[in-house]
Amino acid sequence: MGRDVIIACDFNSKEEVMQFLDKFQEEKPFVKIGMELFYAEGPEIVREIKRRGHKIFLDLKLHDIPNTVRKSMAVLSRLDVDMCNVHAGGTKAMMEAALEGLTREDGTRPLLIAVTQLTSTSEEAMRRDLWIEKPIDETVMHYAKNTMEAGLDGVVCSPLEAGKVHEVCGADFFTITPGVRFADGDVGDQKRVTTPAKAKEIGSDYIVVGRPITQAEDPVAAYRRCVAEFVG
Ligand code: C5P
Repeated sequence: MGRDVIIACDFNSKEEVMQFLDKFQEEKPFVKIGMELFYAEGPEIVREIKRRGHKIFLDLKLHDIPNTVRKSMAVLSRLDVDMCNVHAGGTKAMMEAALEGLTREDGTRPLLIAVTQLTSTSEEAMRRDLWIEKPIDETVMHYAKNTMEAGLDGVVCSPLEAGKVHEVCGADFFTITPGVRFADGDVGDQKRVTTPAKAKEIGSDYIVVGRPITQAEDPVAAYRRCVAEFVG
């Protein structure tokens, strides 16, 4: 899979997400399904969107003991998603178990990426609540390295960190970056944002774009603009 735009389908019902996807008559965008929609509608929503021909990033951020994660990943793999994720904080052993569980008998598997530190976690909260004394950027890079050493395909990170992640983990290690906004668009609650064109320049492999597309007056046009800027 090459560089692509992933639409964050942050809806909480099947009706809403289907109404949104119905607008796309010509292209079949890669979509992200998060916990909200998955917990509301269950695995059937994944099957249904897959049947419609979309690639799916199932964003459930698993974090548990290796045995549980291995078995849960085997279930997600049978759902035939294209990408899923875990928390790198679950340790290398957990990430290795996730990879094992995902791998099908024929050797194929969905892409597996890891969340390093959530962008909602500040350096202060990391020190105070998690007792991690290192600076946050060093911690993020350390987690990215662990992810690579465990054999996973990439990490979710800010587009502004994508260049550094590639420096540390290599050009083939994927960076999946949210926090994307059009130059003339609303920033909303995102703090560190970049445009699709800039994300391409920095070297993101996938951008995850939610509201700039889902809340646009013309979502299809917004999606096409993202693709034109990012994929080119
Ligand atoms: O609407 P917006 O473009 O801000 O959506 C971004 C998507 O990426 C949301 O689904 C959000 O939960 C997700 N995300 C994020 N920042 C992270 C990790 C995930 O915005 N660090």
